[in-house]
Amino acid sequence: MNIGIFDSGIGGMSVLHQALATLPHENYIFYADTDHVPYGTKTKDQVISYVDEMIQFMLSHNCKAVVIACNTATSAAASIMRQKYTIPIIGIEPAVKPAVFCMDHPRVLVMATPMTIHAEKFHKLMDRYADDATIIPLPCPGLMDFVERGDLDGEDLHKYLNELLYSYRDHKVDAAVLGCTHYPFAREQIQSVLGEEVRIFDGGEGTAREMRRRLAESGLLRDEQRKGTICFENSQTDGKKIELCKMLLDL
Ligand code: DGL
Repeated sequence: MNIGIFDSGIGGMSVLHQALATLPHENYIFYADTDHVPYGTKTKDQVISYVDEMIQFMLSHNCKAVVIACNTATSAAASIMRQKYTIPIIGIEPAVKPAVFCMDHPRVLVMATPMTIHAEKFHKLMDRYADDATIIPLPCPGLMDFVERGDLDGEDLHKYLNELLYSYRDHKVDAAVLGCTHYPFAREQIQSVLGEEVRIFDGGEGTAREMRRRLAESGLLRDEQRKGTICFENSQTDGKKIELCKMLLDL
């Protein structure tokens, strides 16, 4: 059986990367819903229906668990999907906790899509750590588009980040959370604008650990010593994004 991992686009590859490091013997299906990307500027109802379609696809392709490798889709739809389906559904959320405890009362910048930042789930997360850190939420509309285009070291991305992060440049924050699975692909560029001393966190590793925990708890870990397989799917049929996915994983 497979583990289904999906995102609105290729950002979820940052989660697949961590999953392969943590659970290399599993078989994976990675689905990028390029037809509907970006999710972060759609309505909540639209995102719920895309996520539902993705989960049904995974169920019809022999999946034993589904990972929503998208912070936006997790905040909009994970709890609703868990009520509807019985297989384990693992989500991702901005890695606020490790950032908050990386030092005494840090200033933590949380970068994410507008939908993630405005969701009730994120407000609850901020409230939980309000006494431990100064948390600064920053919606980043458009940032994921650079990653989706594979445009990672151009002048345009540099200009975009300089404008977006203008008030936080040169170590004005202690830590930054990459709260969208696309952003780890622009990590170096974000780091260079914020300053080298700023600690950067993303939720990929924590999500892979949670996958292992949930699968173990349900007795679903694959008992096999050989490496598993990866199958790439895309809602666009021209194959271009699948090539980009393979390139990002060095396949
Ligand atoms: N990768 C998705 C996330 O983690 C969002 C990108 C989008 O807006 O579709 O939030």
